Formats: sequence, structure tokens, C-alpha cells
Amino acid sequence: METRITRLLGIEHPVVQAGMAGGPTTPRLVAAVSEAGGLGTLGAAYMTPGAIGTAVAEIRALTQKPFAVNLFVPEPFDPSLYDPEEIGASLAAYREELGIEAPGELSYAQSFEDQLAVVLQERVPVFSFTFGVPEEEHLNALRGAGVVTVGTATTVREAVAVEEAGIDAVTAQGSEAGGHRGTFLGPHEEGLVGTMALVPQVANAVGIPVLAAGGIMDGRGLAAALALGADGVQMGTAFLACPESGAHEGYKRAVLGATEEETTVTRAFSGKAARGLKNRFTEEMEGADVAGYPVQNAHTRDIRAAAAKADRTEFMSLWSGQAPRLARPVPAAEVVERTVAVASGLVRPGLRRDDEEKGSGE
Ligand SMILES: Cc1cc2nc3c(=O)[nH]c(=O)nc-3n(C[C@H](O)[C@H](O)[C@H](O)COP(=O)(O)O)c2cc1C
Repeated sequence: METRITRLLGIEHPVVQAGMAGGPTTPRLVAAVSEAGGLGTLGAAYMTPGAIGTAVAEIRALTQKPFAVNLFVPEPFDPSLYDPEEIGASLAAYREELGIEAPGELSYAQSFEDQLAVVLQERVPVFSFTFGVPEEEHLNALRGAGVVTVGTATTVREAVAVEEAGIDAVTAQGSEAGGHRGTFLGPHEEGLVGTMALVPQVANAVGIPVLAAGGIMDGRGLAAALALGADGVQMGTAFLACPESGAHEGYKRAVLGATEEETTVTRAFSGKAARGLKNRFTEEMEGADVAGYPVQNAHTRDIRAAAAKADRTEFMSLWSGQAPRLARPVPAAEVVERTVAVASGLVRPGLRRDDEEKGSGE
């Protein structure tokens, strides 16, 4: 299935495994997807620069094929806007239940500049990002290092901003998607556009290749995305339960046992809207006045870590898209191969956007 995205990224199949910060995207998972002909992505947003360098070396020891590193574009934030005692009070009952003390000094976020320096130094083949558009100086450095760039958009306006910044491709993230909303222009509620509505509108509005994301789990999803004008797909939840995924075992079990009725978009864990499985934490914190990202994220970090250690999924962030019933605990290569095999049987080559007149359907 050759498309503009396979040509741009130098891969065989138009299937990208989403960068998933927080542990799922082990070097083994990334390499397995790339080896299978897709594009594996290291979700590196929460990693130190040193850890990113180590992971990149591990990926390279496992595969010679292209892969991506994904980071969060930083937004300005001011922790002094929030009262730490008030945030602590809203979380005290969870710490008590888990038997942990409130942390002292908090570290809010890794330095994006330092993380990016590793991407540049290592000449990582593909750099993808979410939450905004990097500064021009960073984009110039990426271009200079020959790194292919992929941005994230949840609206047409954002996709156009990504294209205008000179990014090579854009992921159109529909509201079905698991994990954080990439919305960076306007309130996140206005960026909750379903994949089916978002993808063809983005495909009409931009000239760069488009990856569809959100609720795509198999060959039917890939075929649908191509029919909507996408050049490929980015899938997250579909890879979460793979044996190569570093997701916590309790988290994998939760995704494999979940239904489409059980996800919610919550700010309770990180301060930024993200879709995940409902649990006691999301339900009890619903409507609570939480701090913004990354302040809330820093304040809940110890709770999430202690919950994972104690196998208490009710206090863990269980990011998942809206199609968890379609997640399967099979090797990542099988997810890629089956997705492509089924889609190939469904898509008539002539239907692909490559062969259509740009802007048709407007
Ligand atoms: C566990 C998890 C973590 C995620 N972390 C990131 C991330 O670090 N960076 C990013 O750009 N997108 C992240 N996403 C969003 C994905 O890029 C993608 O939009 C989403 O997985 C697509 O929807 P799906 O999960 O239904 O396939 C994450 C998604 C999940 C499920």
C-alpha cells in the first residue's frame, strides 16, 4: 500500500504506531512495528534526554528501519497561579489510601530544548509532536539535520497552522483518540471532532500528507481512513496490549476488558484534557477545579506511580481510545500485518486520495 506517507517516511505500510509517553512505547515495541514495515514511535515526552539517547540506541540495535521520536511542544505555564496546599488537599485522601506522603519539591516537565537536542544529535529519522508547533529555530534545526517532521491537529485551523510552519505531514487526531488531546488553538471542547468528520476536512484543506488517528484499530479503520482522504493512520490503543508494550499489566487487562462506553475525557490526572478509561479517580475528580498542565501532572505523579506499584488501576491514568473492544494481546507485527492485509482487500487502489483531484468533495 504505497501512499505519500510511505514515500515520505521511507516505510512499507501506511501504519504509524503512536508515540505514547509514560512507558508503553518500549524500544522493543517501536522496533517491532518498524521491522514489520510500519513506523514505530518512541513516546519520549516524559523521558530525560539521557534516557531518550539510551532508548534510541536500543531501537537502533533492534532495527535499521526508520522510526520516530515524539515530544510535547511546551506551552508557557506559571505554577505560582496555583495554591499547592489546595491541590494537595484535593489529593490527600488518595495519598492516605495508598500510604504515601505528599512529595516535597516537584519537577514539572523535562526541558524540551534538551530533549530535542538528542533528536538532532542522533539524527532520528522522524520527529513527531503534539500540543502545538515548535519554534522556527527548532524547525530549522530539524530540517538542517534531515529529520522528517509530523505535527498533530484536532481542527482544520490547526492543520493549516502545522502546514504553514513547514511541517512535512500532519496527524488529524479525532475525538475518539486515546491519550491527550493535541488541541492548541482554542478550547479543547471545540477540538473534539470525530475522525470521520475531521479527516476529509483536513485532507481538503492541506497539501501535506495526512495521517488519521482516533479509534482506528484494524484494516477496516485503515481502509476507511484512506477512503476519507488520509495517506495513512496512526494507531495508539491498538498497540497497548501487545506483549512488547510496556504498559502496566493491570492497565493492559483494563483495556482488554473495556467497552466503548467506558472512556471519558478528563483533566484530573494532568491538567490537560485526555481520553482514558473511567475509574474511581476520574469519577471522583469530575468537575473538580484542577490545576493546568503540567502543574496538575506533577502533583499527581506520585499517586499514579504508587497506584501502579500496588496494582491499583482505580488511581492510574488508563489512556484509551473509544475502540478498546478491538484491542488484542498479539505481537505488534501481527497488528501491522493484519491491518494492512485486511485493508488491502477492502481498498480499490483507484479510491486513494493520491489519485484524486485535490480538493474534490469541497
Ligand atoms: C496511552 C496513550 C498515550 C499517548 N501518548 C501520546 C504522546 O505521548 N504523544 C502523542 O503525540 N500522542 C499520544 N497519544 C495519542 C496518539 O498519538 C493518538 O492520537 C491516539 O492513540 C489515536 O487514537 P487510538 O488510541 O484510538 O488509536 C497517546 C495515546 C495513548 C492511547
